[in-house]
Amino acid sequence: MASKTSRDVLGRGLGVLRQAIREQPRIFVVAVVGSVLFGSMVIVSAYVVGAVVGDVVVPAIGRGEVATGTLALAAAALFGISVLRVVGIFGRRLGAGYMQYRLQAAYRRRVTRRYLDLPLSWHHRNATGTLLSNANSDVEAAWYPIAPLPFAVGTLVMLVGAIVSLFVTDWALALVGLAVFPALFALNVVYSRRMAPRQARAQRLRAEVSGIAHESFDGALVVKTMGREAQETARFAGRAGELRDALISVGRLRGVFDPLLETLPSLGTLAVLVVGAYRLRQGAVSVTELVSVAFLFTVLAFPVRAIGWVLAELPRSVAGWDRLRRVLDATGEMPYGQRVLDAATSGPATLAFADVHFSYPPAEEHQPGAQVLGEVGFTVPAGRTVALVGPTGAGKSTIASLAVRLVDPDSGAVALDGVDVRELTAASLAGTVALVAQVPFVFDDTVRANIALDRPGIDDEAVWAALRLAEADGFVSALPDGLDTMVGERGTSLSGGQRQRLTLARALAGRPRLLVLDDATSAVDPRVEAAILAGLRSSAAEPGVPAASILVVAYRRATIALADEVIYVEQGRVVARGTHTELLATVPGYADLVTAYEQAEVDRAQERPYEDEVAPLPSGLEIEVDR
Ligand SMILES: Nc1ncnc2c1ncn2[C@@H]1O[C@H](COP(=O)(O)OP(=O)(O)OP(=O)(O)O)[C@@H](O)[C@H]1O
Ligand SMILES: [Mg+2]
Repeated sequence: MASKTSRDVLGRGLGVLRQAIREQPRIFVVAVVGSVLFGSMVIVSAYVVGAVVGDVVVPAIGRGEVATGTLALAAAALFGISVLRVVGIFGRRLGAGYMQYRLQAAYRRRVTRRYLDLPLSWHHRNATGTLLSNANSDVEAAWYPIAPLPFAVGTLVMLVGAIVSLFVTDWALALVGLAVFPALFALNVVYSRRMAPRQARAQRLRAEVSGIAHESFDGALVVKTMGREAQETARFAGRAGELRDALISVGRLRGVFDPLLETLPSLGTLAVLVVGAYRLRQGAVSVTELVSVAFLFTVLAFPVRAIGWVLAELPRSVAGWDRLRRVLDATGEMPYGQRVLDAATSGPATLAFADVHFSYPPAEEHQPGAQVLGEVGFTVPAGRTVALVGPTGAGKSTIASLAVRLVDPDSGAVALDGVDVRELTAASLAGTVALVAQVPFVFDDTVRANIALDRPGIDDEAVWAALRLAEADGFVSALPDGLDTMVGERGTSLSGGQRQRLTLARALAGRPRLLVLDDATSAVDPRVEAAILAGLRSSAAEPGVPAASILVVAYRRATIALADEVIYVEQGRVVARGTHTELLATVPGYADLVTAYEQAEVDRAQERPYEDEVAPLPSGLEIEVDR
């Protein structure tokens, strides 16, 4: 069983190497030509050294003098061989390096590109740490054997050449070669087979360690405030310890096999000398030939190791490759359509949900996912504001994701201006709708870059217009460098409410025709929140920002009351719809929810003011809403 899997690994590893050669054939040829040149020079040098010993050194010892011409010829031959060897090494190293790093770069790009193409449902199932290690250590592992590969291929050619030249010299010495070289090769194969499971385990643990590290840095705040440093360190230390053990077991195996691999060629040289001395006495070989062959065995030992390096790295390479393929072959990406919404109708868009059913993919594949939405149908008419209200977990964020096509419904349809969103091109969709998510994401960049996101046509004027609408112009102009202020990783230098308004401004700057706000202003003072929404509704006031239809997930009475219509959802179903006043009067659940939330807000406001507002709140909320 074990040997079957390692044969499997060998086969698949060779497949990975074939793939590499297919992708970089020319550079591979350069490297192999360099390597073969080097290998031929190794064999030639053995015979030249033999000749030098036989024709220069031995006569010199015998007669005490050396023919100057012979000496010069020997020196020239050795020098020429050295130059060719250097050229060979240069070609091989350069080619192998180019090949390896080009493949790494190409696959890093492919993997990260794929991350962006894969749907959210795929990302939900895959941890960030794993994604990082896919793009880093798995790419490196997959192409690691590429570095010694040309050397190994050149060595194989050299071994064949060596055996042939041995047979030409003397069959008895050739038999020694036939015993030693295959033994060396076999030892390398055994070595790599033993290595296979160890390397695979180490590679998996590397990914897990980086995953844990990523998670604890990401959750540094939780870890610190909850006093979980010790536990978190222990969790990391546990896995890091396993990785250490795995690597030590790799090292131990190396410790056993490396000396064996060193010793075998020396034993070969010894055998050559014993057999050679016998054959010399028989007159079958000359001193020149014997020295050549003995020297050949000595210089061959090192290149043969290259084959071992490739074989030993294959398991790790296969493990890395498998993990890459899992990303590259992942399916479920959402194909975009061909249709483009009429640019001429750049007014607000109409959003319609028709009998939408949705379930999240299960954590384990091939299991049915739990249904989250059922029979959801509603419309946001052009230019209107619709509030989505419901208890936590009701499916509001899911509806928001469907509206901007982060996910597709299991059945039913989501349409923009009467066109199913699945039929739209990516650009048309992105140009029409904008989602401001429940959890704001801010890039480690300037305020300007965070809002414009390199989208064409968003100049500073447009950025400021968006900031004004998001009620964010005040704090941004107070920042030390204004739009050029760096906001820190994930916007750490901003307050929660500031971050939310920045992401809102980002959405607005793209001039969406449908704006989906998923609880996007929850950390903002209620009065500011209401002001933002009021501003958005009458955004004719801001030149350059066209009025949009708005779907807003909201809790606060002041915000909800600004909506033209309220959709009330519970457990993934639309329970009621109507104006705020109607729902308050007719739907008990709705009234309870809104009142409870309002009470919580009052309590919270009394305890501490909103984090990003300097002015303290009045003791009650000034809500000019009729009940
Ligand atoms: N990625 C996911 N995978 C599996 N289930 C999910 C996922 N996201 C949400 N759910 C489930 O779907 C249901 C609806 O979640 P959703 O986030 O839409 O609720 P919500 O109304 O936005 O809640 P909240 O008011 O707390 O933001 C919940 O039961 C939740 O557990
Ligand atoms: Mg939500």
